[in-house]
Amino acid sequence: MKIQHSGARYSAIVGIGEKVKKLGEESGIEYLALNRGVNAVVHIDLTEVVKRIDFNSDIIQVYPPNSGFPKLKSAINDAYFLGKASPENITIAAGGMGGLDLTFQVLDIKKLLLPEYYWGAYANMSAIRDLQNDTYTDLVSLRNRPNDFTNTAVIICDPNNPIGNKYPDNEVLETVSELNNKGVPVIFDSPYRRVFYDRDDPMFDILASMDNVIIVESFSKSVGLSGQRLAFVHSVDKDFNRELGIRVLYANNGINGFAQELVYELLASPEGRKAVDDFRLKTVTNIGLNIQYLIKKGFLATQFYRDSDPVGIFVIVNLTEKYLLDHYIAGVPLSYFTRDRKEEAAKYTRLCVSVPHQEFVDFFSKL
Ligand SMILES: Cc1ncc(COP(=O)(O)O)c(C=O)c1O
Repeated sequence: MKIQHSGARYSAIVGIGEKVKKLGEESGIEYLALNRGVNAVVHIDLTEVVKRIDFNSDIIQVYPPNSGFPKLKSAINDAYFLGKASPENITIAAGGMGGLDLTFQVLDIKKLLLPEYYWGAYANMSAIRDLQNDTYTDLVSLRNRPNDFTNTAVIICDPNNPIGNKYPDNEVLETVSELNNKGVPVIFDSPYRRVFYDRDDPMFDILASMDNVIIVESFSKSVGLSGQRLAFVHSVDKDFNRELGIRVLYANNGINGFAQELVYELLASPEGRKAVDDFRLKTVTNIGLNIQYLIKKGFLATQFYRDSDPVGIFVIVNLTEKYLLDHYIAGVPLSYFTRDRKEEAAKYTRLCVSVPHQEFVDFFSKL
């Protein structure tokens, strides 16, 4: 067979996970796994939520509507857009990754502009879709960039993966609005934001007024359900939505009905909203304590947070992957998240700080 090789590579972070598992098995010592990208303070407690779901129903058992359950889209409108968006501008997708991939296909672009430190999947997905990529250092540089945005879409990820920094919202909005006014497509892919913001957050409603902005939002991080593979894409561009709808149909033939029903209950029912609130409160509290602890110990690499705040769920520490591994803590070298100055970046490590504070202290107090 002849194979079309995309040039994309399998995630190197998966390799780190496998290495840590092996080290743990060989030594019989448990490692603190901060190499992963999931909230691990607690699981969301779904006990009361699943009782509300009727498994013997068409909703679960039969093909779902192509762009998603109308009631889920309406609940998303209420929970993310202050009830002011149009549900027909929302398309349910198979995870943020699925939503991004379809977005990359639908936009008529040749290049993606990524943050200087970026989630590696952006580059690999763009390789599969034959897109080039380039980087920008910060929001100011994006605003001051001469008009070299031809055939380019810009990705905004805030709080960022891997740095875990968050720019002030007014700066994010000023930048996105400037790009939007120049006609540049902006993909707002910020799945860590809603870990920290509630349903009264006005951000998505403001972004929804911009013609060239596409929001890709996942339920993997904000409600801790990465296993459900559910996300949504919002755009006010009718042509974009029409083509997206066609591509969703032939890629997925609708998105998993159970996942949609579960997330609907989380967003709309009192039991679901309580489960989300409890999950977020515990998660955000422990993330905050862990970041404060790293600052106190002098481990936070503060140069990455000069014009933005360390918010999480990731942070960068001024310790190498090897030093941390020697102390039974697994992280990912920052060099995995950039294409420039890799040698310098290898002196730093990305840690996921969304783990129970006491466990975190138990390991880091030995450093
Ligand atoms: C920046 C960013 N965007 C999108 C995603 C996609 O997440 P999912 O496909 O689980 O929705 C991730 C996952 O790690 C991410 O870090």
